[in-house]
Amino acid sequence: MAATMTESRTAPTPAGQQGEGRRAADVLVIFGITGDLARVMTFRSLYRLEARGLLQCPIIGLAADDWTVDQLVQRARESIEGTGEVIEPAIFNRFVARLSYLHGDFDDAATYTHVAEVMKGAANPVFYLEIPPFLFSAVVRGLADAGLTKTGRVVVEKPFGSDRTSAHALAEELHQYIDETQLYRIDHYLGKMGLEEILYLRFANTMLEPVWNRNYLQSVQITMAEDFGVEDRGHFYDPVGALRDVVVNHLMQVVAAAAMEPPSGGDPETIKDAQVAVFRAIHQADPAHYVRGQYDGYRGIDGVTADSTTETYAALRLDIDNWRWSGVPFFIRTGKKLPVTQTELRLVFKDPPRLGFGFGRDRRPDTNQLVIKLDPSTGIRVSVAARRADADGPEAINLDMEFASEGGEGPTPYEVLLHAAMVGQSIRFTRQDGVEQAWRVMQPLLDAPPPVQPYAPGSWGPAAADQLTADTGGWYQPWVGS
Ligand code: BG6
Repeated sequence: MAATMTESRTAPTPAGQQGEGRRAADVLVIFGITGDLARVMTFRSLYRLEARGLLQCPIIGLAADDWTVDQLVQRARESIEGTGEVIEPAIFNRFVARLSYLHGDFDDAATYTHVAEVMKGAANPVFYLEIPPFLFSAVVRGLADAGLTKTGRVVVEKPFGSDRTSAHALAEELHQYIDETQLYRIDHYLGKMGLEEILYLRFANTMLEPVWNRNYLQSVQITMAEDFGVEDRGHFYDPVGALRDVVVNHLMQVVAAAAMEPPSGGDPETIKDAQVAVFRAIHQADPAHYVRGQYDGYRGIDGVTADSTTETYAALRLDIDNWRWSGVPFFIRTGKKLPVTQTELRLVFKDPPRLGFGFGRDRRPDTNQLVIKLDPSTGIRVSVAARRADADGPEAINLDMEFASEGGEGPTPYEVLLHAAMVGQSIRFTRQDGVEQAWRVMQPLLDAPPPVQPYAPGSWGPAAADQLTADTGGWYQPWVGS
């Protein structure tokens, strides 16, 4: 019987052509420029893009505060210095010469008329919405009514909904005014160098790809540990919790990079199709394999309710039902106030048999492991069983390579992402179907969360999480430094 294939997408860009035919931004309009994200991230990132010669257009800042442009310049200076960046006057002057400022009510049509005037007919605007998501549609509608969204792009910050239904509804609202290709959703994990490295390592190395599957692996562990707490973010964090804050977005990006099939082209749609394909193969997560924790002292934080049951720690198991992964559990854990700050992906290979010869005849050699650490430093570790001269028998020996020692300081995630948005490169932004798939996977955990369990700051979270990995060797301490 002849197979029929239907193509639902337009032809992808031929291999080797990575461009999307989009034109570079001729103005960047930042909504919410007086806010916290701009203070801690945006000014510094734009300044560093200026330093690298990558900033090419005027920047219009917009917020409700009645500020002058001088106040904005002052805020820019304080913000950049506050991140520890040493300002070079010539670069700073070039950067602030691009700035203008408008204040207005996001619900008022006059605000968008002013934006249009100040944009002076720019044809490829990029609108960056550093504002709470409940304002997204009002702003995009205002821009559309003023005729400003026919071309250009709209960049939005997470969260994209708080569950599958709200993520879908938000997209439906925005799609009334702009199409999906104009919508750039930021997940700053996609701006980190590590994810690109995972994909490259997996598929550029003949010694890795053939063993990266269920024939050789017994489990995959993804750890995102943070040694700090919620601190001054109680108001934001308490209604959200670890699952929504970092698992459904950042850590699902790590799952995708670790588990997807090789994309057959470098264009954004082909890469995102490969990502969504693996998400579709993931079973909905089972609350029976989900452990929630809350560190002692969390409820005393400003903005956190006295009887909060929000999780600051989450550990869970995912199962991917396809030829590559069936039978290999993916364990994810993340938490605040854990012993270290480190994000890593760890492949745990199958147990070797007991050896009837050589040293340590009575016990099995340790399992091989391959670790890719992603943040704050990046590197690769291969753990092999070998005989050590300084021990009685064979033990694990780690072959480590820290990427920093081979390269130098790379750009920060926000530099990468803002630049990508300005040049119209959408690979590093999430697509609606991927977002909804990630929510689909996590939805049962939102619907039926297990009770939250206390844990001591500085510990590895509730002991119950150990049950998840008990059959596959337990949780491994992340590789922090060499
Ligand atoms: C943010 C979360 O998205 O990511 C924070 O809201 C988390 O809670 C942060 O700490 C982690 O990102 P990074 O880049 O600092 O590791």
